[in-house]
Parts: sequence; C-alpha cells; structure tokens
Amino acid sequence: MTNPPSITIMGLGYVGLCTAVSFASKGFRVSGYEIDEGKVEQINSGKATFFEPQLDTLLERSLRNGFVASRKIMPADIYFITVGTPSKADGGIDLKYVRSASHDLGRSLRNSDGCRLVVMKSTVTPGTTEKVAAPIIQAESGKAVGKDLGLVANPEFLREGSAIEDSLKPDRLIIGEMERKSGDTLLNFYGTLYRNRMPEVLRTTPVNAELIKYANNAFLATKVSFINMIANLCQKVPGADVEVVARGIGVDNRIGMAFLRAGPGWGGSCWPKDLRALKTAFSESGVEAPILDATMEVNESQPFRLVEAAKELLGDLKGKRVAVLGLSFKPDTDDVREAVSLRVIGALLDEGAKVSAYDPAAMENARKVLGGKIAYASSSVEAIKDADCCIIMTEWSEFGKLGPEDFRSNMKNLVVIDGRRVYDPSKLSGMRYAAIGLNRTQETRILGGG
Ligand code: UDX
Repeated sequence: MTNPPSITIMGLGYVGLCTAVSFASKGFRVSGYEIDEGKVEQINSGKATFFEPQLDTLLERSLRNGFVASRKIMPADIYFITVGTPSKADGGIDLKYVRSASHDLGRSLRNSDGCRLVVMKSTVTPGTTEKVAAPIIQAESGKAVGKDLGLVANPEFLREGSAIEDSLKPDRLIIGEMERKSGDTLLNFYGTLYRNRMPEVLRTTPVNAELIKYANNAFLATKVSFINMIANLCQKVPGADVEVVARGIGVDNRIGMAFLRAGPGWGGSCWPKDLRALKTAFSESGVEAPILDATMEVNESQPFRLVEAAKELLGDLKGKRVAVLGLSFKPDTDDVREAVSLRVIGALLDEGAKVSAYDPAAMENARKVLGGKIAYASSSVEAIKDADCCIIMTEWSEFGKLGPEDFRSNMKNLVVIDGRRVYDPSKLSGMRYAAIGLNRTQETRILGGG
C-alpha cells in the first residue's frame, strides 16, 4: 500500500462523485469507475452530472489534482463501492449494481499483488457485505477476503445540499470490519484525510454497520413524521402553533432541535427507499414494525393536507390557478426523486386546478416527470402571476424574500398556503394564510380578523 493510499471509487452517482471529489480535492490520488460513458465524458470535462453546492469547484480542483473518471477500474490501494441500490417492487433493494461492481472489481483484482481494501459505502441491507459482495469478490479475484483482501462496510450519511461538507466533516465514522487489519487500514486513511479533525469512530461488524445506516434514517424520518402528526393536531386546537411546540420540546437536550420542522412530508432518494427496505427486512425476519408503519403512514397522507387547505380557502379547485413554489424534495438540490411536490401537484391536477410551478434548481428534473401537465415559470413572481393560490412546497431561501407587496401586485386571490413555515403571518396582513401546524383561529387573531 502506497502512502498516502490511492483510491478508486466504484460508481460515480451522487454519493460516488461527492466522495471522489472530496478525497481528490484534498490531494489524494483518486480515480472513478463508471459504466455510463456519457457520465464519464461529462465528469472529465469538468461538469458535474447533478447540482450540489461546492461540487463544480471541487470537481475542477480534483481534475487538476489528477482525478479521472473511467470505464476501466484503475488499480488502487482502497476501492470504495458507491453504486446505487434502487427499490424493487416489493420494497426490498435491488442488489444488481452491488453484484456487478463486486464482480468487475473481483475480476480486476485477479492478477493484482499486495493487500487491497474494499469498502462498501452503498446503503445495503444487513448481511449484504458479507453474504453477497464478499463471495463474489472472492470467487472472481481468487483471493481470500480477510487474508489477501480486506473488506469493510462503511456507510455514508451524506445529506443532499450539504454532501461535500458532510463528506469533509462527518460527525462519525462507522467502521464495519470483517477483521481488525481492514479497519486499521481504513482508519489510517481517514486519519490522513481528517487529521486533527478526526470524527467520532465506532468499530463494529459489517452487519451492525449496515443496520446503523437504516436505523439512523428511520429514526430521523420518525422524528419528522412525529412532529408532522403533532402539527396536524395543532391545526385543530385553537391558538396552537407547532413551531412553538417544536422549539419547546427541542430544547430538551434528550430530544434536540434538529429534524423537528413540520412540513408536507419527507421525500428524496434515500428515506423513502431506505424505510421500505427496512420494512422488508422486518417482514422477512417475521418481526413487526409498528413505529415504522406509522412513520410511513403519516407521510402518505401529509402532502394532501396542503390540498385540503387550498380547498378550504378556495372551495372547488376546478379551473383555479395554483402556483407551486418549490419542486425539489428539499432546498439546495435539484433532486425531485420522491419529492412531495409531485404528489401535491398530482392531487391538484386531479381536482382540476391549473398549476404553474417554479423552483430555483429543479425545473429540468421536474419537467422530465411532469411533462406538459403544468406550466413552468421562470421566476417565483411569474409563477404567482394571476394565481388564485400560492403553495410553498420547499423552503428555498428566495421564497422567504417574497413580501406582501409581491403577492398583492401579482396574485388574483390573496391566498398563501405555507407548507414550510417560511412566512411570519403577522407580516401578511390582509391575506388569507394557512400554514402547516398553525391553527387558523390564531392566524385570524394575528391578522386582526377577530
Ligand atoms: C438523508 C439523511 O439525512 C442522510 O444522512 C442520508 O444518508 C441520506 O438521507 P437527505 O435525503 O439529503 O439525507 O435529506 P434530509 O436533509 O435528511 O431530509 C429528508 C427529508 O425530510 C426532506 O424531504 C426534508 O424536507 C424533510 N425534513 C427534514 C422535514 O420535513 N423536516 C425536518 O425537520 C427535516
């Protein structure tokens, strides 16, 4: 093994590319293996294949530092597997990319000498690293895992919108080692990468590492579904406001403030998929998962609360113009995968409404899904022009800058439904305003309506 070790990242999707440029920008010798020729060309030309803050700058720096994407597996000391694990129809995850990457990697290691390390970063169900990846790599390489070849499950916790930051300053490292030496090698690498900012380390078995990733996401999703459930009660209780309730429980340091923002539900490329996979793992083990079921159930109905609010304030939505601000599943990303905006738009269209939408980054991706069903505005002001109602779906900071004057001078009907609590209702006098988790008698009181 060279010092510092050379790295090959297998799969340049979201996690792979963010991980690759984070390592390469710090001076490590990194190459990326990717089977999609288009992606390889685009990345090598310096253009990231998706939007993520800091990614373009880091990709540029990485290419200058020698980073290269390739359809060949470049020999390295450490191989990180970062391929996708999409959902199957039954909710479990499809391991075909994990299998093919393990196969390709095993083949490429057949004639290699020296001890290499393989790191499973993809989110995989418990047992996959040892029971699926290890046998394939072993069979194809002719090398014994644990003896000639190291293998560690090391899940990532990258959040879209801050993936580079999370990659460069993670709060913990979960090292699921098959044997001690592999864990030591990976920790040495991370020691060189993070130096005096080494995060908390937990050394465990691969199966525990795999479980930690799922339990982590399921716990956070449960926290959000919990506050969404409380928000629904707040809406019915005169004078109640979920923001105040969340602040009040969040200061309890056993609970914490994070992930207590009530909203129209959670989405994205990870949580829905991971929770379905975890649910399948429970079912396959014959264990009940009532909390997981409830977390998912709350999230199923939550987006429709916004449509109900629109109906309450406008009556029949047939022929009404509804502006939807925000399409990405959260701010600072162009990702619309399992975004709740898509479900809200679908329900609005079913009610016969005409939708005009705007998002600072996700227009192109939304268009791929929604096609000609809605109108696409080039700004938030254009989206609300002549609208009967405006629904805030994603808390992009620029939406918070829309003032009462913007609504007044552009909308036909002054109805704002704040799905993300972006506005201070006391500043929207004269408007009809409904918000997740805010009782409307309180809103009327604040607006001076009696
Ligand atoms: C998540 C995990 O946080 C990350 O560690 C994991 O590895 C990948 O999945 P991400 O999908 O980027 O990251 O989104 P995250 O920031 O966790 O938010 C998930 C969803 O919950 C979003 O739809 C977001 O809008 C929603 N959310 C989050 C809330 O509605 N309220 C909150 O308080 C927090």
